[in-house]
Amino acid sequence: MRADGEAIGEAILEVRDLVKHFPLTRGVLFKKQVGAVRAVDGISFDLRRGETLGIVGESGCGKSTIARLLVNLERPTAGRIRYRGQDIGKLSGGALKAVRRNIQMVFQDPYTSLNPRMTVGDIIGEPFDIHPEVAPKGDRRRRVRELLDVVGLSPEHINRYPHQFSGGQRQRIGIARGLALRPEVIVADEPVSALDVSVQAQVVNLLERLQEEFDLAYVFIAHDLSVVRHISDRVAVMYLGRVVEMGTDAEIYEHPTHPYTQALLSAVPVPDPAARQRRERILLTGDVPSPANPPSGCRFRTRCWKARPKCAEVQPLLEVPSWLEEAGGPAAHPSACHFAEERGVVAGA
Ligand SMILES: Nc1ncnc2c1ncn2[C@@H]1O[C@H](COP(=O)(O)OP(=O)(O)OP(=O)(O)O)[C@@H](O)[C@H]1O
Ligand code: SF4
Ligand SMILES: [Mg+2]
Repeated sequence: MRADGEAIGEAILEVRDLVKHFPLTRGVLFKKQVGAVRAVDGISFDLRRGETLGIVGESGCGKSTIARLLVNLERPTAGRIRYRGQDIGKLSGGALKAVRRNIQMVFQDPYTSLNPRMTVGDIIGEPFDIHPEVAPKGDRRRRVRELLDVVGLSPEHINRYPHQFSGGQRQRIGIARGLALRPEVIVADEPVSALDVSVQAQVVNLLERLQEEFDLAYVFIAHDLSVVRHISDRVAVMYLGRVVEMGTDAEIYEHPTHPYTQALLSAVPVPDPAARQRRERILLTGDVPSPANPPSGCRFRTRCWKARPKCAEVQPLLEVPSWLEEAGGPAAHPSACHFAEERGVVAGA
């Protein structure tokens, strides 16, 4: 979230009805498709210049698949992603390369995402091999030193190897690499999940500072609502390949209307013991169903304490429920539930 209060800009990424199905096959010689894992199943959102959109949900709900679609590591089964009005799926050659330069990714695990045999200088400078127009050969070392400085590492460590750094420092190296091409968008897939809690805040603070300095937009993925709270302007909550609720930071954390969001929030640690006492913990029963065979109607119905017959028959759409819209106020935001309503869940500040 921007600390300078500057207005967030126009939509630079437009995601519409995005679908990614992975075929399930049987047979060795003659592969026959027997089904599909519906990893991402009809997702739409905008990302505006300079904003942070948090994406949250349990393991396997499709977060990394969205990240990979956004940076074009996967091709969508259906739907489209537009970057500044251009449909990424229809681009090729130089035009595609130019878009890819502007949307970079930071990965979860700084231990495995950096090549152990390369020096940090080579790791951070590698994107320049693909885009030499950004930094001519003679200028690269200087640029890499600058990047090390920008992410809070010593430029003198340019010849060191990843194992010579701590986890938090390695994530800084990954961020420097993501910044090398001066992108407009960074897709960060659980960038702090593998780090100690004490280091997480430092990396989040760094990302916030860089956002202001370079006017970056972030898609920030996490499985824990408490991690995205401090950095996100808006949050999308995912369940089994779909977004179930989307809203501003205050709408989601203080006025959640979808039962799944309410359950997730009720599990967020509360530092204040009095608030902890008051809080009602919602325990979800049952496992997350397989994305190869999601429940009919509302996908959350097998674990929802409010489920009624309609929930099995009609799939709720992600829109502002009419009764909440009429009442107005912060509960009037998109929620994919037939019976969306506010329920006080003390999540702590
Ligand atoms: N290449 C693939 N082939 C087949 N299935 C896949 C592939 N990639 C992902 N999946 C499946 O798609 C679903 C969504 O996976 P994804 O990695 O996007 O989830 P996630 O929300 O990032 O989970 P996590 O929190 O564990 O990282 C999972 O059921 C996963 O097994
Ligand atoms: S639509 Fe029904 S099952 Fe789904 S979240 Fe709402 S009440 Fe629960
Ligand atoms: Mg993932």
